[in-house]
Amino acid sequence: MPRKRKASLSTSEPSTSSHKVPNTTTTTTNSNSFKSYPASKIYRLVEPGPILLVSTGSLTQKTHNLMTLGFHMMLQHDTPALINICLGPWDASFNLLSSTGSCVLAIPDVSIAESVVDIGNCSGDEVDKWTKFGFEAIPAAKVEAPLVGGEGIIANIECVVHDRGMVDKYNLWVLRAVRAWVREGFGERMKMFHHRGDGRFTVDGEVLDLRSRMVKWREFQD
Ligand SMILES: Cc1cc2nc3c(=O)[nH]c(=O)nc-3n(C[C@H](O)[C@H](O)[C@H](O)COP(=O)(O)O)c2cc1C
Repeated sequence: MPRKRKASLSTSEPSTSSHKVPNTTTTTTNSNSFKSYPASKIYRLVEPGPILLVSTGSLTQKTHNLMTLGFHMMLQHDTPALINICLGPWDASFNLLSSTGSCVLAIPDVSIAESVVDIGNCSGDEVDKWTKFGFEAIPAAKVEAPLVGGEGIIANIECVVHDRGMVDKYNLWVLRAVRAWVREGFGERMKMFHHRGDGRFTVDGEVLDLRSRMVKWREFQD
């Protein structure tokens, strides 16, 4: 059995990275120049998936709402495709998601980044975000919430709540994708963007194509 290696810690101050590291009470650095980082801020490292808009409520009942969401994670590829989202009771969308049991996850293009941030900084209880931000509410095929229409939207994923067993504890909803829509040719002209946790974002850049090395996972390639 391999022996456990001991990390040797020093107290020198590196910081060659352009990523701003929050202040920490201990500034320990190990021999690989990894700087100590507070556990309370690791979401800034782990979060980056595409920032999402979440459409909830019902189009026919005119209760539909929009919010911004950065905390999410794929849980299962297919049969069925499952996605985790963390959506809490501080959002008006929480009760809408709870009552209809469905929503639409929309992926925005970076061209509408400012609207995406503003949508996450106001409440549907006070403002009709569809009108204010100029998004068309398009009837979905399988859920009550509308698809998010407009040139700045890359894709819409219709979802139903699959498991709410961890909502009370973690505000974590397991969603099942039941229908998805993407804008044709989006890969050539649109860019997803990713929340770094503090109002800064990373924008999709160069594509590194290493598909030929994915010898064990051919089934995930077209
Ligand atoms: C960049 C960004 C990311 C956010 N991520 C989340 C998230 O993952 N989960 C969440 O519950 N709220 C998140 N929010 C906050 C909601 O979008 C915000 O509370 C919004 O005002 C809720 O709208 P509503 O009250 O109309 O539902 C985020 C906001 C921003 C700006």
